[in-house]
Amino acid sequence: MKILIIGSGGREHALAWQLKRCASVSEVIIAPGNPGTARVGRNNPTDPPSLIANKVDLTIVGPEAPLVDGLVDRFRAKGFLIFGPTRAASQLEGSKIFAKSFMARHGIPTARYEVAYSLGEARAALKHFSLPVVLKADGLAAGKGVVVAASAREAESTVTSLFDGTLVGEAGSKVVIEEFLAGEEVSFIAVSDGRNIVPLEPSQDHKAVFDGDQGPNTGGMGAYSDSRILTGQQRQEILDTVMRPVIDGMAASGTPFAGFLYAGLMMTAAGPKVLEFNVRLGDPETQCLLHRLDCDFAAFLYEAARGHADEKLLRFRADPSVCVVMASPGYPAKPRTGQVIEGIEAAEANGATVFHAGTRATPEGIVTAGGRVLGVTHSGASLAAAIHNTYEAVKKIRFEGMHYRSDIGRKGLSRYNEH
Ligand code: AMP
Ligand code: GLY
Repeated sequence: MKILIIGSGGREHALAWQLKRCASVSEVIIAPGNPGTARVGRNNPTDPPSLIANKVDLTIVGPEAPLVDGLVDRFRAKGFLIFGPTRAASQLEGSKIFAKSFMARHGIPTARYEVAYSLGEARAALKHFSLPVVLKADGLAAGKGVVVAASAREAESTVTSLFDGTLVGEAGSKVVIEEFLAGEEVSFIAVSDGRNIVPLEPSQDHKAVFDGDQGPNTGGMGAYSDSRILTGQQRQEILDTVMRPVIDGMAASGTPFAGFLYAGLMMTAAGPKVLEFNVRLGDPETQCLLHRLDCDFAAFLYEAARGHADEKLLRFRADPSVCVVMASPGYPAKPRTGQVIEGIEAAEANGATVFHAGTRATPEGIVTAGGRVLGVTHSGASLAAAIHNTYEAVKKIRFEGMHYRSDIGRKGLSRYNEH
């Protein structure tokens, strides 16, 4: 098969890397791609995706924006095989209000909420919530649309900046105000063909920029995947109370969901509750999840795209995996870029894989070109070994002003009593 991957980040590099290893795949094309994907496939930053798709057997979409924009609908109308949700089904991520009211209608566990369409409504609604309180822009905001406000003052300044457009522009003209949920977060991603559900292994993202979950939220500073993140009973509960009702509810509404369904969950004392849905793979969860795959993932996705998501075609190694994101100075507020990166080859010498996110190839070598620069990924026989192996690789890489978290996966270590 020839496969087209849409996107240019670390998630797309991990997809290209894994798909290129599959026996069923002859070529991977990435549009537009990055210097990392250029090493495993062919980048095509110039042709319109619909032109490239004409010559491949399957298209896979990385980021949410093209999905919400209806790329899948347009490709299907042309008869191209593509794996991902339609524009209508992508509203699960494209509109937080859609997602919340869908969950309310289908009894899916989530935080109590109200919707505000003006600053006045938001102020009135805030009176019905205790602190901390969570404020979410309705539309897509590249991870910047959610604020957990610890004080009344912060809540007031956040709703003000949402409605005057200074926080995230038009995406913040409608706001969800919701109850704060305490617990540990889990990323639960499943593949669906609109009917069947095949869960991937659980993973955990680390959204805050600094160790110990301190500082502002980012797109994700690292992730780990370990099957022990959830017990068998918790997995089943998530499938029964979240995944199955979503897939059945979307089908019953005439907008069946096919693609990667990502539930961002808070494991609360009262069970798993949904923080958000994404209609795609997570970044950086994908980097560590795909590192654990032990199957022909392309064959699995090809069948899923044709309506037969088959769990027998999906297999993960037991070994836990870890991805540490190396970020530019100033990230997430104002990343400074253009620094030369050294040591990628040395980092990969012991089996780690360095996924490119924000890089650019220049005559001087690979330089930084975004906030999240690299996702250094490795696995190990235990979580402790996976963490050790990954940080050994991280230490080989250098660019001016770089920063990364040194505690990715550590919560798991204490939970499983590893050292
Ligand atoms: P979201 O994009 O909706 O997943 O929100 C981004 C991050 O904000 C989540 O990963 C959580 O860390 C945090 N968050 C969102 N909603 C809540 C909530 N109701 N209670 C506590 N934390 C939340
Ligand atoms: N890692 C969170 C996300 O992809 O949205």
